[in-house]
Amino acid sequence: MLETFRQLYGSAEGARIYRAPGRVNLIGEHTDYTQGFVLPMALDLATHVAAVQSPDGMLRIYSEQRRELREFSAAGIAQSQPAHHWTDYPVGVAVELARAGFPVAPANLLICSSVPEGSGLSSSAALEVASALAFLSGRPIDPLELARLCQRAERNFVGMPCGIMDQYISVFGRLNSAVEIDCRSLGHRFVPLPESITFTAVNSMVKHALAGSAYKDRVAECAAAAESLGQPLRDLSPAQFESRAHELPAVVERRARHVVTENARVADFVDSSTRGDLARMGRLMVESHRSLQNDYEVSCQELDFLVDTALSIDGVYGSRMTGGGFGGCTVTMLRPDAMPNFQRQIESAYEARFQVTPRLYPCHPSAGAGEESTPR
Ligand code: GLA
Repeated sequence: MLETFRQLYGSAEGARIYRAPGRVNLIGEHTDYTQGFVLPMALDLATHVAAVQSPDGMLRIYSEQRRELREFSAAGIAQSQPAHHWTDYPVGVAVELARAGFPVAPANLLICSSVPEGSGLSSSAALEVASALAFLSGRPIDPLELARLCQRAERNFVGMPCGIMDQYISVFGRLNSAVEIDCRSLGHRFVPLPESITFTAVNSMVKHALAGSAYKDRVAECAAAAESLGQPLRDLSPAQFESRAHELPAVVERRARHVVTENARVADFVDSSTRGDLARMGRLMVESHRSLQNDYEVSCQELDFLVDTALSIDGVYGSRMTGGGFGGCTVTMLRPDAMPNFQRQIESAYEARFQVTPRLYPCHPSAGAGEESTPR
C-alpha cells in the first residue's frame, strides 16, 4: 500500500495507516433503525486508508478501486455539499467531524478496500470509519461517538437513513466473536460462536441499490407501526404483537411482524449458540430469511435461490440473506469440513441458473477499526 502511496504522492514518509472492517450480519436484519437487536461480526475484509499531512492546504483523496483522485480545500470542507459520488462518504465524515469539534487538516489520502461494494457486507461503513480515523490522525475520540458520527455522515450527507449496526460493528468488532448490539441502549455483548461451525458469505453478484426508495419505505412503515401501536416495536413480544396486529394496515402489519419476530430470533439465536444447539441456530436463520422474503419483502430471486440451494447441501445448518437486501450476499452456517463441497455445489447450481459465478467469502470474526501498527 505504501508503494502505491509513494507513486501517487511522491513520498510516503510519515504515513499512518488505518483499517476499518466490513461485516456480516448473522441475524437481526432490518431491526436496527427501530431500536432492536442485531448480531453482526466484523470481517477480515476491510478498508485501509493511508494518510500523510500535507503542507499546501489541500485534502486529496485517491481511491485505488475507482482509480480516481479528488481534491478539496481542507479549510472549506465543512461547507461541502453532497456530490452524489463515492467521495460523499469521506467528505460527509469530514463535515461531521468538523461539526463535532475535530476540524480536518490538509492531507493526502489513499483508500484501498477488500470489502466488495454493493454486496451487503458494509463497504460504506468501512470507508466511513477508516476515513474518520485517518482524518482524526491519532486524536482520541470516544468509540461510540465515532460510530454515531459516521452514521450521521451517511444519514445527513449521503442521504441514506441507515441504522447504527454497520458503523457500530466496524468500530466494536472483536476477534473470534459475534457482537450482539442493543440498538436502543447502544450497549453490546460479545457472543463467542461454537467452534464446530463456520460461516461463509455468498455474493449473488446482484448489486443492491439501498439508497433507493425501498429502504426508506421500510423505515417509514416501521415508524408508522410504532406510532399506531403507541410503543417501539422492540418492546413487543410476538404474542403481544399478534393480539394487536389487526389494528395495522396489511402491509405495515407484515413489516412490523418481521421486526418483532426477528428481535425474538436474535435472543433465541444467542441462547442457542451458548447452548451449542446448532440445529436451532440454523432453523432460526432460515426463519429469518423467510420473514425477510415474505413479510419484509427485501429479498430477490437470486438470494432466495442461494438460500434454497444451500439448504439442500450436506453439512449446512442454515442460510439467509444478510444486509439490506435486494441483492448482495447470503450468509450460510455450515460444518467446516463441508466447505469445499458446498463451494462446488453452490457455484455450479448458481451458474446453471443465472450464468454468473457467485463469490464466496469465508467469514472469520475480526477485530474492530484502528490504526495498523506496522506500515505496509
Ligand atoms: C443496511 C443499513 C443497516 C441495517 C441493514 C439491514 O446495511 O446500513 O443500518 O439497517 O441495512 O439490517
